[in-house]
Amino acid sequence: MVSSVDGKTSIVGLVGCPVSHSFSPFIHNTLFQEYGLNFIYVPFSVEPKDLQTAVKGLVSISVKGFNVTIPHKEKIISFVDKVDVTAQKVGAINTVYIEDKKTYGYNTDVSGFMSSLKEAGFEIKGKKIAVLGAGGSARAVVAAAALEEAFAVFIANRTYTKAEKLAYDFQNDFHGQTKALSLDDNLEDIYNSHVIINTTSLGMTGMSDSSPVSEEVLHKDHLVVDIIYNPPETLFLKKARQKGCKGINGMGMLVYQALHSFEIWTGKKPSGELVYSLLTK
Ligand code: ATR
Repeated sequence: MVSSVDGKTSIVGLVGCPVSHSFSPFIHNTLFQEYGLNFIYVPFSVEPKDLQTAVKGLVSISVKGFNVTIPHKEKIISFVDKVDVTAQKVGAINTVYIEDKKTYGYNTDVSGFMSSLKEAGFEIKGKKIAVLGAGGSARAVVAAAALEEAFAVFIANRTYTKAEKLAYDFQNDFHGQTKALSLDDNLEDIYNSHVIINTTSLGMTGMSDSSPVSEEVLHKDHLVVDIIYNPPETLFLKKARQKGCKGINGMGMLVYQALHSFEIWTGKKPSGELVYSLLTK
């Protein structure tokens, strides 16, 4: 955040409900200060029934852009002028840029996830990907796998019908299989995958003694990703590391989605190290 707001300060923000627990105001305002940009990032609590009115209002007061979070990521697609290819693929927007009263929707959860895997030295192309969960985050992960040309995707979810729907939506995006599973099924396909990504809420603070699947599906050559960042090491990641797997948490995805949004609004490309150092202070 700029040290003092003046008549030229550009406003960006977060549209969601709730917004009070988000790290985004801290990340962006610190970056604006670090880069000497006259910008401020503000949380906007918007109820679902008010979403369209809120978007019109933000455009009319010349806000530069905003992030979108739960529960609006899908619904906002109908209220922006142009949706980029990645956001279309996921069916969700997490970043809006406003220029000349026109709204442009992007999904930096997808690019953020891709960047976090690249940072870990993992190449998705040609690989078998196992995704645990079938909610909004799972969709972003499956879309990233499709865009990066993974070979196959196996989606295991507590509610099988949701896994089935997600697999169906992406059935033409992989050269190999797109398969839905229930978390209680025989998880041989998961065992035979190259990377296992947990997108369920199991393991989050408040559910930290639970894990989405048993460690029997793990072997030491797996890359195990948990998109949870609080706690930094979930029970699932702990078990994976004990088995000798390389494991990464959701901090990279959080950092890179923010960096990509920042770049869309400001044209500046901050370093990942800077944001990591801020978040781990
Ligand atoms: P997000 O946007 O973070 O993906 P979401 O769309 O609400 O959030 O999805 C949450 C995911 O966590 C879903 O896959 C959900 O499984 P269901 O589709 O069966 O609801 C999964 N999840 C949440 N609580 C769970 C639990 N106690 N056991 C197993 N899976 C759970």
